[in-house]
Amino acid sequence: MMTMTISPPSIPLTHLQRYKTASVKQGLGNHQSIGGGGLLVMASSSPKNLTTTNYLKHVESMKSLPSGAGKISQLNAVILGEALASEEDDLVFPSDGFSRQALVPSPQKYLEMYKRSIEDPAGFWSDIASSEFYWKQRWGDHVYSENLDVRKGNIKIEWFKGGITNICYNCLDKNIDAGLGDKIALYWESNEPGFDATLTYSQLLGRVCQLANYLKSIGVRKGDAVIIYLPMLMELPIAMLACARIGAVHSVHVSSSFMQKRVVFAGFSAESLAQRIMDCKPKVVITCNAVKRGPKTIALKDIVDAALIESAKNGTSADVCLTYENQSALKRESTKWQEGRDIWWEDVIPKYPTTCDVEWVDAEDPLFLLYTSGSTGKPKGVLHTTGGYMVYTATTFKYAFDYKESDVYWCTADCGWITGHSYVSYGPMLNGATVVVYEGAPNYPDPGRCWDIVDKYKVTIFYTAPTLVRSLMRDGDEYVTRYSRKSLRVLGSVGEPINPSAWRWFFNVVGGSKCPISDTWWQTETGGFMITPLPGAWPQKPGSATFPFFGVQPVIVDEKGVEIEGECSGYLCVKSSWPGAFRTLYGDHERYETTYFKPFPGYYFTGDGCSRDRDGYHWLTGRVDDVINVSGHRIGTAEVESALVSHPRCAEAAVVGVEHEVKGQGIYAFVTLVDGVSYSEELRRSLVLTVRNQIGAFAAPDKIHWAPSLPKTRSGKIMRRILRKIASRQLDELGDTSTLAEPGVVDQLIALADC
Ligand code: WTA
Repeated sequence: MMTMTISPPSIPLTHLQRYKTASVKQGLGNHQSIGGGGLLVMASSSPKNLTTTNYLKHVESMKSLPSGAGKISQLNAVILGEALASEEDDLVFPSDGFSRQALVPSPQKYLEMYKRSIEDPAGFWSDIASSEFYWKQRWGDHVYSENLDVRKGNIKIEWFKGGITNICYNCLDKNIDAGLGDKIALYWESNEPGFDATLTYSQLLGRVCQLANYLKSIGVRKGDAVIIYLPMLMELPIAMLACARIGAVHSVHVSSSFMQKRVVFAGFSAESLAQRIMDCKPKVVITCNAVKRGPKTIALKDIVDAALIESAKNGTSADVCLTYENQSALKRESTKWQEGRDIWWEDVIPKYPTTCDVEWVDAEDPLFLLYTSGSTGKPKGVLHTTGGYMVYTATTFKYAFDYKESDVYWCTADCGWITGHSYVSYGPMLNGATVVVYEGAPNYPDPGRCWDIVDKYKVTIFYTAPTLVRSLMRDGDEYVTRYSRKSLRVLGSVGEPINPSAWRWFFNVVGGSKCPISDTWWQTETGGFMITPLPGAWPQKPGSATFPFFGVQPVIVDEKGVEIEGECSGYLCVKSSWPGAFRTLYGDHERYETTYFKPFPGYYFTGDGCSRDRDGYHWLTGRVDDVINVSGHRIGTAEVESALVSHPRCAEAAVVGVEHEVKGQGIYAFVTLVDGVSYSEELRRSLVLTVRNQIGAFAAPDKIHWAPSLPKTRSGKIMRRILRKIASRQLDELGDTSTLAEPGVVDQLIALADC
């Protein structure tokens, strides 16, 4: 039996102090609360002596579990002021009120479900698949079959093979049959405040069927590729669903980026689009004439035109370019046009019937291709299939956001990113959710726009990326606090490790200290969440993605591929498959095996570093190629960045390793300062000291490079490859900078190198 001592003194959970009241650091003080509920942070006059073993009576039962979840021994809880100095000990509890209504209300329930998902994956997933989805025909004898070990032959993952279904049918027809026909499926908010539109589930089905009928009429058949190059208009999910309805394989290309504050389009977009057209040879490209992002108009069709010319030179061209007239951005009269190939969406699609038979497909038939960059120049076409992806995205959405029928959900990601596939379109719609789709820039017309949208639609679940959180944090609390945000109940984060200070700001200022944050770790390749808090179940630690989702067995291995137990750091791998896993890289199964399964035979290698603390919480430390080895100390760039960003005058930081004569590698830090702060020698010293104090002398940056902005991709990822070249002054080897959202940043950084 687990002992239940709390000493000294015993503090009942109901007496715990509110997180928000405790600190004034990083703008944490005096924030307005947005209603009751609330999460709690443990408080004690003697924090180090306080354990929560009474809360976690279940830990005994966890000993039998594999990987991290089985290693928890005790949890320490501390007051907030203390927590800011020692961040990893900081625990944020869901309130009783939140937990009571949650789908997974306790660690115990999580463990019970997790245990079953690992011990009996076939039973666990087939129960969900058969009770929550429509199958025209049930799968064959095996729920799944897999080989993740290159030593035993080719890598193969199959889930629900032989099962016949359709994901569009499950998103729309099934929900309508269940009575959700009049429920709002999509709220669309234009870049310009005041312009919006809605579609109910029935209306959405009608629109999807019209497009599906048109695609069939021009000869698009099951298995054919369709390239979609649309901004965040309702036509984007419509196009994805229409392809899925007829069994066509969509490939959505990023056309804009919500995460960037100022979006500038580089000519390269046409080149990269041409590359994808040549790779997957689509019959049709679906686009729109232009889009507005903030005050800027971007002529998307010009990019498509250039891409089609480029691909035609190499022998591949699309027969049809279906173009939506986005009237608020550009009128058709001003749109360049190629007769015979270009078709206006509005002229043809509404003429087609609003019903369309479903093309029933095998669970293992391809659903979509999504290109993602690899370590070589050639993009990887990540291929997802239908059945497992469907079951996995719906289930992860439901549990990680504690989804309720009354929720209004907003994910800020573009559908050109996996997040937009799994958690704008498929995951939410499979659950019959109401989804907000926003066309514009997050700071247009001012940095309060997100919260204006939250209030307008009474958004309850808000899911975004740390880069946006940090950028809004930099603009100041006032833009947030002038809005009520009282509808919010769950927040989410994705894309990179969220540094604790951004976590706290998100939690305190945006969420008014009452909304749990689901820090969802996953990848294009994984299809859905892999390590994520389940709000209501576990206490959270700011900056930790916490525990594995059902069916996921994360393991941490050393450089020899040996699993490490307990508290440790190493390479994050996954043992055994999960339904949402990608099945191959399009046209290159060998690269799939080499990149993901050969580095550590027997496991899927994620490419990420990870630490597991003594309580079993997972802390993602960034891509392993971002790990710096300084005098034998392995330091995640994210760790140093997090320390720098905790400095009140530092808004964002990106750290890379540079060659160092004595230490092997030295630490080179690019820092963006808070608006209005100027760079000085005194500030440089203070930044270095912050890192020294938080991590240790070995982690102190050798060089601080002032960066008014950082080179980022359109999905908001910092391009460290370029930073590494600037840091090592290999300026003639910068490589292609045209995929950057703002290529001009590079010259600015070079000019500031010796400041
Ligand atoms: C990183 C995005 C820490 C990670 C869904 C991963 C994260 C890569 C998190 C995948 C998170 C994503 N915490 N790191 N919550 N989410 N990452 O394919 O390095 O665009 O390998 O998928 O982003 O990026 P991708």
